[in-house]
Amino acid sequence: MLKGKKILLGVCGSIAAYKSALLVRLLIKAGCEVRVIMTVSAKTFITPLTLSTLSKNPVVSAFEKDDRGQWENHVELGLWADLFLIAPASANTMAKMAHGLCDNLLTAVYLSAKCPVVIAPAMDLDMYRHPATRQNLKILQSFGHLVLDAEHGELASGLVGEGRMAEPEHLLQQVEEHLSKKKRFEGKQVLITAGPTYEKIDPVRFIGNHSSGKMGLALAHAMASEGARIHLIAGPGQYKLESELIALTHVSSADEMYNEVSAKYDQTDIAIFAAAVADYRPIAPAEEKIKKTGDSMTIELVKNKDIAAEMGKRKAKSQVNVGFALETEKEEQYAKEKMDKKKFDLIVLNSLNDNGAGFSVDTNKITIFSVDQPKRHFELKSKQKVAEDIVNCIHETFK
Ligand code: CTP
Repeated sequence: MLKGKKILLGVCGSIAAYKSALLVRLLIKAGCEVRVIMTVSAKTFITPLTLSTLSKNPVVSAFEKDDRGQWENHVELGLWADLFLIAPASANTMAKMAHGLCDNLLTAVYLSAKCPVVIAPAMDLDMYRHPATRQNLKILQSFGHLVLDAEHGELASGLVGEGRMAEPEHLLQQVEEHLSKKKRFEGKQVLITAGPTYEKIDPVRFIGNHSSGKMGLALAHAMASEGARIHLIAGPGQYKLESELIALTHVSSADEMYNEVSAKYDQTDIAIFAAAVADYRPIAPAEEKIKKTGDSMTIELVKNKDIAAEMGKRKAKSQVNVGFALETEKEEQYAKEKMDKKKFDLIVLNSLNDNGAGFSVDTNKITIFSVDQPKRHFELKSKQKVAEDIVNCIHETFK
């Protein structure tokens, strides 16, 4: 797997820098070409001479004051690498990477690199646990980088806990697994609708529903982790994105959702209609707040466009449309009728009769019907795990 790969190894100031020597040896043994960048403080833990001898290449560590008047080409180094491995990665360097600071060569190369990035943190246990570090690790993961878990054991401080850099053999094994994992939807365009829609009654009131958008968001993350680019078109709600591959467009009404979907649908490979779209809207929303008058009132409603059904009419042979059905009776019959009517390739049925399934909760229990596969029941799971099951079924249909 690693044979012939160009590995750029970034070494930060940490006692674990001594492990870099073994790491370089293992990489060379695996047939890699290795170049090393050290931060200035890394050189207080291990000498450049050791790493240049083992890597058979000069070690670079510029932006420190030297009189050579020479510019280190961080762009060239970043483009050269097939993989940028930062091991050990200190809390300080990870913070800079997470926030785009580049006051040394290592961080400047990081910002210029286009290759996959693997980060092996090393620090004391309290630094590792600190919310600032946890937040930075999350940010780095959201950039698509592989962040390896620090290992448990005795630390330089004498304390025992998590914070040790992964052992070089273990680290390489994880890197190999990561590189060999094929992303199943790399380069595919996926459109996902999510959340409720709000249909205006007057400037302060609307008709809505309890959808939280959690299922649609979980699907967006599951698809992004398989390399797809996602347009998430979402009704009102909180959507915390953890991947740069997801572009979020907020809409409010069914009409706005229809317009956004319609504009993007033709460039889409896979469309997942997870939104709980209001079927009707007030025919004439009031310009001013409606005042309380009689003992009852009537609001006349008019049908909204069925977004999924309209896109079904436009569906090209290569496109896959996935729908959802939430039923309280005749579940299988209604779900299959919807699949047929709206030209879905797959429909995900969640039953409100199941505890833990449906709106607002973090879990879901689904059955998937598909045009070319037998129906599949799944156990109650977190919405993230449910999203992975759906993604697996879409993959079966799409390939
Ligand atoms: N859907 C849509 N646009 C609508 C209504 C529904 O895109 N205006 C999509 C939903 O996102 C879902 C599927 O169609 O994927 C089924 O939604 P559902 O509300 O269950 O179906 P309806 O056709 O509205 O049927 P009913 O409410 O009568 O059960």
